Amino acid sequence: MKEHSLRAQFPFFQHGNNQQTIYFDSAATTQKPQCVIDTIIDFYTYKNTNVHRASHSLAQRTTNEFEQARTYVKDFIGATHSAEIIFTKGATESINLVAKALADTDIPNGKRILISATEHHANLVPWQQLARQKQLEIDVIPVDSAGNWLIEEGLSLLTEATCIVALGMVSNALGTINPIKIFLDKANSVNALTLVDAAQGIAHLAIDVQRLNCDFLVFSGHKAYASTGIGVLYGKKAKLEVLPVFLTGGEMIQKVDYQTASFQAAPFKFEAGTPNVEGVLTLKQALEFINTHRKQIDHHERQLTSYLLAKLALVKGIVVYGQGERISTVSFSVNGYNSHDLGTLLNEQGVAMRVGHHCAMPLMKTLGVAGTLRISLACYNEKYEIDKAMVALQVAINKIAPDNSPIEHDEKVNQQNTENMPLAEAVQSAKGWDSVYRQIM
Ligand code: ALA
Repeated sequence: MKEHSLRAQFPFFQHGNNQQTIYFDSAATTQKPQCVIDTIIDFYTYKNTNVHRASHSLAQRTTNEFEQARTYVKDFIGATHSAEIIFTKGATESINLVAKALADTDIPNGKRILISATEHHANLVPWQQLARQKQLEIDVIPVDSAGNWLIEEGLSLLTEATCIVALGMVSNALGTINPIKIFLDKANSVNALTLVDAAQGIAHLAIDVQRLNCDFLVFSGHKAYASTGIGVLYGKKAKLEVLPVFLTGGEMIQKVDYQTASFQAAPFKFEAGTPNVEGVLTLKQALEFINTHRKQIDHHERQLTSYLLAKLALVKGIVVYGQGERISTVSFSVNGYNSHDLGTLLNEQGVAMRVGHHCAMPLMKTLGVAGTLRISLACYNEKYEIDKAMVALQVAINKIAPDNSPIEHDEKVNQQNTENMPLAEAVQSAKGWDSVYRQIM
């Protein structure tokens, strides 16, 4: 079978059992293209030094590359100054940095923090901690029964009393692109600090911090083809200047004596200790990969997502959460079936997807489910994998309740998209679920 050119750049799919596995968990972490893997090998083979500390030329060269990566990230998200880009270990650390640092500032008791009902725990718990420390209240933009934000109700919660607005650009649990801009604009009009969690957006959406006009924006590298343990905190220069330090130690100081210390300016005052140098270099490589292939990635992911949604719509009792614009992540459950049971049976058939609360427990409670099944696709996935996963879902459903025949089989959709697939061809030519099942068995 001819694979599209992007998939061919990911060695993960060429090896052993991975060839049989359907990797539908890219919202948890993406696979890495060869250029990113090469960056790590190249770094440890030829370039390994610390950065910013030594005067020898090896370290200077690595430091230059490290700082070039900072500039690349700045341009990638449309920031104004390289000093606005702070390297952290991930989106979670970036949010914690802001929340913990704000605990050292004067925030009047009784002020309010606005988040949404779809936040990942990483953009909820740090604010709960801050609220506890500073006696603040948390308001939540509500959602309807499908998980869509209720904009008017949410906006009515954003008032002069709101001091922080922290919102996810894309729901990790549902894949929906949230209407954050209207909230950021209102937040700016009442002088609330704004933070955007772009962890699920960075690999799929063009991000422009000038257009968003947010004070802070965070993301992780590993969800955008870079290695794990590298993330970014963007902060407007003026906001970073007045934000107290978070971690203290080497390289973030200006002057130290035994009793006191003074600190460098941003970004260095927020980068205590030896940074994840190879992670930073992989981040630049990964963002270059996205930039180079942006159009192809976007087109391919849109096609896959429409195809997946059309296929899921054929499943009797399917509930897809979140409507409107989405990235290539789809969260669903099947009425009458436990998502964990289905997930286990899908896993047994080599389909790797996330099942459960997706680190968004309050959202699941609001939706009235224990958890959902989540398919998250990336640029390397293929339509035939969706076909296989749908067959696996049919098998799982039938194993749990054989008489339920929950799939409304659609010959036309199958005929268009299962070229060169022996199993899919067999399934395609079968009439009705019973014969589909027989073919699979
Ligand atoms: N936040 C990651 C996810 O949504 C781990 O799966």
